[in-house]
Amino acid sequence: MIRFIEDKDEKRKISREVLEALKEWFEVDESREQYIRESADQPFWAAYENDVPAGFLCLKETGKETMELAVMGVKKDFHRHGFGRKLFAAAKAYASVNGYDFIQVKTVRSGVYEDYDITNEFYKSLGFKELEVFEEYWDAANPCQIYVMSLKSAMETMKARHSYRGAFVQEPVPREDLIAIANAGINAPSGCNKQTTELVIVDDKEMLEKIKALIDPPVAKTAPAMIVVLSKRINAYRDKCFATQDYSAAIENMLLAIVELGYQSCWYEGHITDDDRICDRIAEVIGVPGDLGVVCILPVGKALEDFKVPPKKAFEERVSFNRFGEK
Ligand SMILES: Cc1cc2nc3c(=O)[nH]c(=O)nc-3n(C[C@H](O)[C@H](O)[C@H](O)COP(=O)(O)O)c2cc1C
Repeated sequence: MIRFIEDKDEKRKISREVLEALKEWFEVDESREQYIRESADQPFWAAYENDVPAGFLCLKETGKETMELAVMGVKKDFHRHGFGRKLFAAAKAYASVNGYDFIQVKTVRSGVYEDYDITNEFYKSLGFKELEVFEEYWDAANPCQIYVMSLKSAMETMKARHSYRGAFVQEPVPREDLIAIANAGINAPSGCNKQTTELVIVDDKEMLEKIKALIDPPVAKTAPAMIVVLSKRINAYRDKCFATQDYSAAIENMLLAIVELGYQSCWYEGHITDDDRICDRIAEVIGVPGDLGVVCILPVGKALEDFKVPPKKAFEERVSFNRFGEK
């Protein structure tokens, strides 16, 4: 089990316990003590097996857009239990959700010490790419390999996206970001290119309040901006209407753009299209013409709280190869 640790003493205790058990990698007392000291103020995750700390990882901000995997260790008895990967997954999700673009990590380059060769292979298997080797960064006997990972690839953003239903930071979302998000939406595919989805970006405080006042039970109460998704139910060909598919593709594109730009959102459709037809009242408030209907709202803003990642079924339960049910 992976836990995010906030208590500074607990962080120092766990990092000491783990690093002192890994003297092959952390043999210099002075730098080990520095890792332990600094870990207290860093985002910190611990891995447990039967309530025993098996390892930990902490991150350090090295630039406005970059987090460094500052230190990570898993006790030898717990190697090959998948803790390293789980710790890294938690840290990566945190960096991504908090708007960072890159994660870097430094280690001794491959080909110098066997123990560090394993570390290099581990980082590469996580998806890190070689950035540069600085021969003298530490000293000539320990050439420093810097690895980097972009958190802003489409694949990473898809992994990082989840519905956020918490409170938002009270700061406006710049128009250029809202425009980039809306562009992602209208660039989505649509059946026969009918482009049946239209959008209204709402960032005016008064208008936001009017919309929020209609939503019962309330959602997105503190969102500093919102995108209202409109759909035109026309046929793409013969009697085939793809309007639902069209706006779904547009919404997913926008959710990904929102996360990529460091914001959070949630696909609020069920909530406003139920029997009480909140969507129609929203349409009235923002002046939507009769041939279009409001189908969804997407709040946009920076997350103030951590959010829950819902469990997803296992890959094998939902995906087959070649024939249904074949693994
Ligand atoms: C068509 C559709 C309608 C949705 N409507 C709502 C909604 O009204 N309220 C809500 O809180 N979440 C809504 N969601 C979000 C889902 O609950 C959410 O995607 C799902 O629980 C999976 O969680 P994840 O987005 O974090 O992966 C909707 C999602 C879809 C695709």
